[in-house]
Amino acid sequence: MVRRVAVVGAGCSGLACIKICVDEGLEPVCFESSDDIGGMWNFRETPEPDRTSIYRSLVVNTSKEMMCFSDFPMPSDYPNFMHNSQLLQYFRLYAEHFDLLRYINFQTTVRSVLQRPDFSLSGQWEVVTINKNGQEERHIFDAILVCSGHYTHPTLPLSDFQGHETFSGRCLHSWEYKDANAFTGKRVVVVGTGNSGGDIAVEISRSAEKTFLSTRQGAWVLGRMSTNGVPLDIAVIKRINNVLFQLLPKTLVNWAAERALNNKYDHILYGLKPKHRHMERNLMINDDLPGRILQGAIVMKNNLEGFKDSRVVFEDGTVEKNIDAVVFCTGYIAKFPFLPSTLSEGPYEEVTLYKRAFPPSLQPPTLAVMGLFQVKGPLMPTVEMQARWAVKVFLGQSRLPTKEKMLDVIESERRRNMQR
Ligand SMILES: Cc1cc2nc3c(=O)[nH]c(=O)nc-3n(C[C@H](O)[C@H](O)[C@H](O)COP(=O)(O)OP(=O)(O)OC[C@H]3O[C@@H](n4cnc5c(N)ncnc54)[C@H](O)[C@@H]3O)c2cc1C
Ligand SMILES: *[C@@H]1O[C@H](CO)[C@@H](O)[C@H](O)[C@H]1NC(C)=O
Repeated sequence: MVRRVAVVGAGCSGLACIKICVDEGLEPVCFESSDDIGGMWNFRETPEPDRTSIYRSLVVNTSKEMMCFSDFPMPSDYPNFMHNSQLLQYFRLYAEHFDLLRYINFQTTVRSVLQRPDFSLSGQWEVVTINKNGQEERHIFDAILVCSGHYTHPTLPLSDFQGHETFSGRCLHSWEYKDANAFTGKRVVVVGTGNSGGDIAVEISRSAEKTFLSTRQGAWVLGRMSTNGVPLDIAVIKRINNVLFQLLPKTLVNWAAERALNNKYDHILYGLKPKHRHMERNLMINDDLPGRILQGAIVMKNNLEGFKDSRVVFEDGTVEKNIDAVVFCTGYIAKFPFLPSTLSEGPYEEVTLYKRAFPPSLQPPTLAVMGLFQVKGPLMPTVEMQARWAVKVFLGQSRLPTKEKMLDVIESERRRNMQR
């Protein structure tokens, strides 16, 4: 009988999980290591270890209509695409409306989550936490929802680049980047064309002397605005489109989408043309990048190869001199240091999860990881659905397939992802 559920983290995933546990008659207890809710949307002036960190100007890339929780619309005076501080405010309103704060223990870090000796019968866990006075506490729970975020550990591949130790400028990861103040009048290379790379290059280019944006694979770049000025995700994420994507040949869909994009700005002329097709990877959402390229404020570069003193060398042999700083927007890896290492089964030394949520060999299935996925749309309502499913599995109202079946699914999804 599952009753008490530990929720690790009070970001938007954690808040949704608390709400859904209460809906299902469970007793959630949430542990949050910081002193506030909101997770990565709670902007801090300095990045904190093991936690996601955002830049001051960050504006969401999904519209308010699509990203709100199903039972709590966004305030009507919000713009369609809001600043990060307004999204945090929305999460405050959500927590207040459903009275969620009373389930949260702030400044309490989960150190470890361990199966109890009688786990195969009870499904219970022992959770060790450290409170704000440094005291260790032990708790027993019937189930665990892990909502600790996954943009937490920056990957800075410096040693991949020849001569990096000779570089006289500053190297930093986007995790450390807050605003463009330090880059006024400077010559800056931004590496990586994910969403952050595009945003940061555009922002720096407004005050820097010159900004170079280096890309390994190129990117299909879309604005937040679709036909008739409708928010992109509202225009695209529709059942009818899902049906069409399944019926029509992929090459046709790609051809049509790429043609429409190239009609706005030819991705070859703009130095953006990716090797991959439109539907194969995540797109870059950026309203300003093509304009900054058109004005010469941003110059596109291919893969970064190495450094020589103040010079930066690119794969095509070009060299940019007197570079003051390189900002690496090279992504993150997810780590769950508090989970038992036995959950990192399989050959890949990472937590192996069925549908990105359930460790396949846990019997009974009383632990799930939330929000550990990429969607071509907003994360919040997706996590809400995922949490409802997880709770139903805890309660035995929904069943997982056999371990063998789950491992098969994991492997085939993995193969598909690697291909992409
Ligand atoms: C730059 C950027 C922009 C994005 N923009 C969008 C967007 O526009 N739209 C969208 O849908 N998605 C966006 N995303 C995706 C984003 O991941 C989700 O929006 C979402 O905020 C993730 O929330 P979360 O609750 O899962 O994790 P987080 O917000 O990271 O929260 C995790 C929480 O867990 C706490 N925690 C961690 N470890 C422990 C521990 N051991 N003990 C106790 N507490 C712990 C942390 O302190 C934190 O409060 C963006 C991501 C990034 C990086
Ligand atoms: C929004 O930006 C985040 C962070 O870069 C990214 O993970 C997510 O996929 C983006 N969403 C969309 C719909 O492109």
